[in-house]
Parts: sequence; C-alpha cells; structure tokens
Amino acid sequence: MSTHKIAIIRGDGIGPEVIEASLAVLDAAESAFGFSTERMEVEAGAKHYLRTSELWTPELELRLRGQDAILFGAMGDPAVPPGILERGFILEMRRTFQQAVNLRPVKLYPGVKTPISGLTPERCDMVIVRENTEGAYVGRGSTVHAGTPYAVAVQESVNTRVGVERVVDFSFRLAQSRRRKLTLCHKTNILVEAGRLWQETVNDLSTRYPDVELDYVHVDAMCFHLPLSPERFDVVVTDNLFGDIITDLGAVIQGGLGVASSANLNLDGSAPSMFEAIHGSAPDIAGRGWANPIGSILSTAMMLAHLGEGEAALAVEAAAVHVLSQLPAPSGAGMGRSTSELGLEIAALLGVSGSVPPVPGRSIMGELAGMRELGGLGLR
Ligand code: IPM
Ligand code: MG
Repeated sequence: MSTHKIAIIRGDGIGPEVIEASLAVLDAAESAFGFSTERMEVEAGAKHYLRTSELWTPELELRLRGQDAILFGAMGDPAVPPGILERGFILEMRRTFQQAVNLRPVKLYPGVKTPISGLTPERCDMVIVRENTEGAYVGRGSTVHAGTPYAVAVQESVNTRVGVERVVDFSFRLAQSRRRKLTLCHKTNILVEAGRLWQETVNDLSTRYPDVELDYVHVDAMCFHLPLSPERFDVVVTDNLFGDIITDLGAVIQGGLGVASSANLNLDGSAPSMFEAIHGSAPDIAGRGWANPIGSILSTAMMLAHLGEGEAALAVEAAAVHVLSQLPAPSGAGMGRSTSELGLEIAALLGVSGSVPPVPGRSIMGELAGMRELGGLGLR
C-alpha cells in the first residue's frame, strides 16, 4: 500500500472549514482506493503571525521540503495589513519551492449555474496555466519621494527565458493530452519586451509540438472572449499577473470562487507541489458553515492525481461534481447544507461504486495522472 506524506496548512477564515471537509473526503478516498497518507499539520497564517511574527521561515521550508504534497486552505485576516501574508508566505512558498505552474481548470460542470446566459458545459472546458514565480510578482521595485506630490513608484516585471520556457513547455504537453490547442494570453502590443520573450518562446517550442494548434489573444480581449466564447480555448498559457486576473473571471464563469480549484506544480521534483482552492479566507463568512468546500475538494483531487492516485482523483471529482449539481446556491445559507455536511456527503459517495455518473468531457485528473506517468511532473 502506498503512503503519501502530506502537509496540511489550514490557515485563516474559511480555510480550516474547507480543509476539514477536504480531509473527510481524503479519508474516504483512502479506504475506498487502498492508499494512506501521513499528515503533518502546519500552523501558519494570521493568528500565528500575530503571535510569533513568523511568516515563511527556513525551518518551515525544511519541514515542508520532505513532504510529497501540501494541501493549503486560505490565508488573510483584517487584523494583518494586506499583502503581508500574501507576499510573505504564499508567494514565498511558490517561489522557494519553484512551483512554476499554477494550473487552474475552468470547466463548467453540469447542473452548475453560470451568470453567462446560454452557456453550456460542452462549450466551457479549458485549463489556464499561469506562470507562478515571476512577472510582476517578484516584488522588485522602488519608490522615491514617497508621500509627497513628487512620489515615483516603479514596479518591475521580471520574465526569464527559463521561467517562461518551463510553463510553455508544460502547456504544450498538457494541450497534447487534450484538444491540442494552445493560446498565449499576453499584451505583446504594449509590453513589448516581456511580450517578445513570451511569443518567441511559444514560437520556438512549437516546432517540437507540430500537432498543437497555436492561438494568441491580448489579455484585455481575453476578458471579452472568455465569457462569450469559451469554446475557443483549450489550454491558455499566461504570465503571473494576467493569470491571476483572468482566473477570477474563469471562476465566475464556472459557477463562482467556491468551485474553482488550483494546483501549484513544482516540475523538477526538487520540492513539493501545493494544492489550494482559488478563493481567499473570506473572513466575513468564516465559522458559519457557509463556505463551499468543492474548490478545495477538487484541489485535493488534483493532489491525488499528482501523487499517482489517478483512480481516486477521478472518483473524488465525480462525487464532488454530482453533489455540486444538486446545490441550490453556490455558497452561503442557500446551499442547503453546511461546509462540513457537504464534505461528508461527497465522502459517503466514494465507497459505493457506480453511485455517481462519471464527469462528462475531459478531466484534468486523468490528464495530470497521465503526465505524471510520462515523467513530466516533478515526481518525488
Ligand atoms: C490567487 C490569489 C493570490 C495571488 C494571493 C492571495 C497571493 O489571488 O491565488 O489567485 O495573487 O496569486
Ligand atoms: Mg487571485
């Protein structure tokens, strides 16, 4: 029986609630599919920071590096000024562990309400690959004459050939296991230096993947095409900041932030990958059982696929999607059950074979598991 070492970071706000629900599903997946996990709880987040002034530390890095994966809830609290935890912990983890790819599927599952009228699940099934360690997120820049009418703020965006190439290469390989179409999303007409590096990298690598069709869309036009013609997109590769923005839009289209999942993938096996829902800590609804845990549960499923438990990953996805299709509202009191009840409901479906229909269309779970087998996913 294989055992996977997993670090659990519950964090703040609704983080602990969605993680609790995800762990209920993980327990059920373990007994249904015959594997086990060794779980290491890590205290981090706003409360921990206010008590200890600690964010990302070398000791924590060492403890986490030995793990096979990290399951992450959410971080942030009104008591901590904005940016401290985000930059001091989340971005530090992504950078230190070289989680180069932030994989964010945008799939409208059957039965889910979308604000885009007339949109059907067949038309919305893509994966956004967000570069996760560079761009405007490197935290470089400076301000002079701060607080005066002559203040000058410079914020740099760093793009390296190595950094761009690894996400573009990953995106081509992912496209090969899907509809064989790759769209670069950037702003090459204005951000000409970075834009040239991205476009050249895509062009250069495309000779290795002649079976993948190429497309290009400016990021502003993307905000127009994504809701209105999502069928145009299969795999979209983009830089860190554009990816942050368009994946929130993607989340809305697929039924809200409660549903959207993500995988922060280390591609070279030097450190663990991290799995988290796209939503934040939502302190306004914390502690009420109003958070939808399905984004976190689908992230847990991606973690399973990444760990080589492909069958379990597919089953978790199918069970979560089945329950999701029955929710009267995407989150809040209107869901008709609490966060933990939803977790238990999904968990209960796992032991019973044939209890839920398979997810229609493509599944990122199978694709991740397949890429792992091909050796391209930083095996640990
Ligand atoms: C996300 C979030 C993060 C980001 C924050 C919390 C650092 O918005 O994962 O999309 O900007 O990447
Ligand atoms: Mg974001």
